[in-house]
Amino acid sequence: MTQQVRGVVARSKGAPVSLETIVVPDPGPGEALVKIEACGVCHTDLHYREGGISDDFPFLLGHEAAGVVEAVGDGVTDVAPGDFVILNWRAVCGQCRACLRGRPWYCFDTHNAKQRMTLADGTELSPALGIGAFAEKTLVAAGQCTKVDRAASPAAAGLLGCGVMAGIGGAINTGNVGRGDTVAVIGCGGVGAAAVAGSKLAGAARIIAVDIDDRKLETARKLGATHTVNSRQAEPVGAVRELTGGFGADVVIEAVGRPETYRQAFYARDLAGTVVLVGVPTPEMKLELPLLDVFGRGGALKSSWYGDCLPSRDFPMLIDLYLQGRLDLDAFVTETIALDEVEKAFERMHGGDVLRSVVVF
Ligand code: APR
Ligand code: ZN
Ligand code: ZN
Repeated sequence: MTQQVRGVVARSKGAPVSLETIVVPDPGPGEALVKIEACGVCHTDLHYREGGISDDFPFLLGHEAAGVVEAVGDGVTDVAPGDFVILNWRAVCGQCRACLRGRPWYCFDTHNAKQRMTLADGTELSPALGIGAFAEKTLVAAGQCTKVDRAASPAAAGLLGCGVMAGIGGAINTGNVGRGDTVAVIGCGGVGAAAVAGSKLAGAARIIAVDIDDRKLETARKLGATHTVNSRQAEPVGAVRELTGGFGADVVIEAVGRPETYRQAFYARDLAGTVVLVGVPTPEMKLELPLLDVFGRGGALKSSWYGDCLPSRDFPMLIDLYLQGRLDLDAFVTETIALDEVEKAFERMHGGDVLRSVVVF
């Protein structure tokens, strides 16, 4: 059996997205059909639309989502119909070298749903990041669903499925921010603001937020930044040093994804400090650093992919902290929009007006 729902599709490179009828098959073995309640608009969706990720058009966009499991296929035991779940784009295999070594966040055999959703004329769709959640219902691998407390707002919960998890995880999983640490976060959009919130959760004593946009610095303050630096007005490396007695920060998180901000992060850290690259660079970006500075400063240069998260561990924990009032996920939801407003939300994202626009169904 199949069902027909509405979904947001990028049909060809660079063209505006359109609202289409999507045909969704029943879940096959190991799969789950999820009724989407909310899905955030992320840069990655725009990258798909622009053809920057793959040429496999048409794409069914959307991947920062929460919803309710409607049906499951054979052999699914971890989730059941009625479960409120957050979707993740890494259903870990449990068998590959990374998984067997206890580092499932590097799993290189993640699997998505095998059944394909199509357009009404039968054209197969490529779901963005194996999810495709700008649709009333979507088909995923059961391992992409993590059950969390139903009391959470779907708009806030869905954001944990990507950008917000990347930021929080960059601080707590990759950066190992600890009690009393000084942290600097360069770039405080949705991802960087989440790194600020994660650093606060981890007990950082000082959190220095750096951005070129005062609106972002204001939100960062609400989420736990103790100091802010507008790097259009002050040179950020000097400013971070000044705020840390001349030393630099224990952990610096780069959440822009550009060589110049990475360089700032590199020099804004204390001796033996850690730099975490969370921002996603483009293939042509290059970085040049004096090797002696890499050697002389010690410490660690790390990158964080999806916040090095383990959804089964991190999603329920962060939702609990949210429900206890200790993690303000609602602060990331700048606006809620309808399914036919995704294209407009891309423009707002481009203008830097929002942390996240979230489609609510
Ligand atoms: N210095 C400091 N901040 C900067 C600079 C700069 N030179 N240039 C841009 N910014 C700020 C922007 O003002 C904005 O607040 O970086 C922030 C980027 O945030 P968003 O555009 O909202 O992007 P976000 O969703 O946070 O993602 C950040 O992580 O996942 C990746 O692909 C994503 O590379 C992107 C990064
Ligand atoms: Zn694996
Ligand atoms: Zn995303």
